[in-house]
Amino acid sequence: MTLALAIRNATPTDAGEIARVYIESWHDTYPGVLSKALLSSMKLGSQTGRWRAAICQGEIVLVAEIGGRVAGMLSAGPSRDRTLGFDGEVYTLYVDPAHYGEGAGRNLLAAAFSQLRKRGCRSCLIWAHAQNHARFFYERMGGRLVAERTAKMMGDPVPEVAFGWKSLETVQQSPAR
Ligand SMILES: CC(C)(COP(=O)(O)OP(=O)(O)OC[C@H]1O[C@@H](n2cnc3c(N)ncnc32)[C@H](O)[C@@H]1OP(=O)(O)O)[C@@H](O)C(=O)NCCC(=O)NCCS
Repeated sequence: MTLALAIRNATPTDAGEIARVYIESWHDTYPGVLSKALLSSMKLGSQTGRWRAAICQGEIVLVAEIGGRVAGMLSAGPSRDRTLGFDGEVYTLYVDPAHYGEGAGRNLLAAAFSQLRKRGCRSCLIWAHAQNHARFFYERMGGRLVAERTAKMMGDPVPEVAFGWKSLETVQQSPAR
């Protein structure tokens, strides 16, 4: 049976479920890529507070619900590095590992592009770990590799790549199921 997928703006009461999805997706994605210390430092309580604050401060925070339960999350807003020529940015995009490949990522991205357009943005950038397979998803969604950098997380060097969309019209939501 295929469960219904819906995208909506997050409310403060979603913060705990957003934190759960975020942590589970990190733990599925980054073993062997990020340090154990970094992964084990992620706590449900502090992440819940972080996401509640982001929602209350008016950041774009979206959730994907599958069968009425939060199965993915995304946050977005103005680009944090305008030197690259993109005015919008998706800061985070994480889907519950139990629901990879069910359309949540595509539909979250399409909804984020729509909201960035409403806030006056014309383009978008996403940074990803250079070893993250999400880069193939971004290419599938029409993103192009536009930059590389080495960031720092808890003192560890982290190689990152940026994917860019010069136009926000490119990602289409998949038809309702
Ligand atoms: C990457 C991620 C957001 C994609 O979301 P998703 O819901 O699994 O993807 P969707 O079902 O919407 O897939 C949309 C399309 O992208 C393709 N795709 C998804 N993940 C892919 C991957 N890793 N490699 C290649 N193609 C991929 C799908 O096959 C689908 O193709 P289609 O257009 O032919 O149907 C999700 O898998 C995830 O959260 N991964 C772990 C966390 C992560 O890496 N987040 C990004 C941090 S920068």
